[in-house]
Amino acid sequence: MKRKMILISVLVAAVLSAGVSFLPGSAQAANSYVGTATCAGCHDKEYANFSKFAKKAHSDRSIKVMAKKLTPEEVKECYACHTTGYGQPGGFESFEKTPDLAHAGCEVCHGPGSAHVDAGGTKALIKGKGRMNVKECEKCHSSERVSNFRFKPMLYGGAH
Ligand code: HEC
Ligand code: HEC
Ligand code: HEC
Ligand code: HEC
Repeated sequence: MKRKMILISVLVAAVLSAGVSFLPGSAQAANSYVGTATCAGCHDKEYANFSKFAKKAHSDRSIKVMAKKLTPEEVKECYACHTTGYGQPGGFESFEKTPDLAHAGCEVCHGPGSAHVDAGGTKALIKGKGRMNVKECEKCHSSERVSNFRFKPMLYGGAH
């Protein structure tokens, strides 16, 4: 009995460590940010609504209007919420290096999209229906504000 337990825990540990060493190498490195314009090619309706109605589509302007009054270090603090993927692999670096990621684009909600794009639009490779969580909005928005949005109606009021 005891020996069986040990065997099971060894197996579980082996699977866990294999999983951990496997993920960062393949899944994460393979999936990076492509920018909103890349999504437009196949999702023209969402792109059109987003560009027209969402403040996120020009959230870089909100940084730029205030930048003159800020130190370069303070400006960097804006990037986490006003750009796409700042500080993450393949994410925003600077206005010069990564202009396509300078606003808070599709991928701040749907996650990095390169794997989905390379596969020609496989659903499982992008966060979509049923796999999105309001908690993720709270990375950038106050929870009070998020509960006022009410997820679904928000789609028509800003996202797409
Ligand atoms: C990476 C940060 C980030 C995440 C994650 C994020 N937002 Fe935002 N959102 C912003 C920023 C920044 C603005 C304001 C842009 C500006 O005016 O410069 C904004 C604006 C908005 C607005 C204002 C209305 C408009 O015109 O766009 C709504 C509504 C909104 N977000 C909803 C959401 C919801 C719902 C989620 C989660 C599904 C979410 N956001 C996730 C950064 C984020
Ligand atoms: C923790 C995330 C976060 C950080 C950091 C952040 N912002 Fe924002 N900012 C937001 C969100 C979210 C909104 C939209 C608020 C809403 O509509 O609910 C916003 C809105 C704004 C707006 C108002 C835009 C409008 O149309 O009314 C300006 C301007 C702005 N931010 C500038 C900045 C600057 C400059 C910095 C850096 C010093 C910064 N923000 C840092 C999340 C952030
Ligand atoms: C090469 C074309 C193509 C590009 C580029 C593309 N998509 Fe898609 N996307 C598709 C197709 C096709 C589907 C529908 C798949 C299906 O119905 O099985 C889809 C489905 C989706 C879904 C729905 C997933 C679900 O679970 O319902 C989301 C969300 C999405 N795409 C977001 C994005 C984002 C964000 C980008 C940019 C980073 C993007 N797509 C770029 C082709 C594309
Ligand atoms: C503020 C967060 C947010 C942003 C930004 C955003 N989306 Fe979405 N998107 C959502 C949510 C939430 C859903 C609905 C998920 C559900 O129904 O459970 C969704 C659904 C979708 C779907 C599936 C639609 C369907 O009816 O099957 C596609 C495709 C999509 N988004 C593409 C995009 C593209 C392309 C962009 C950028 C132009 C974008 N999204 C920007 C939050 C966002």
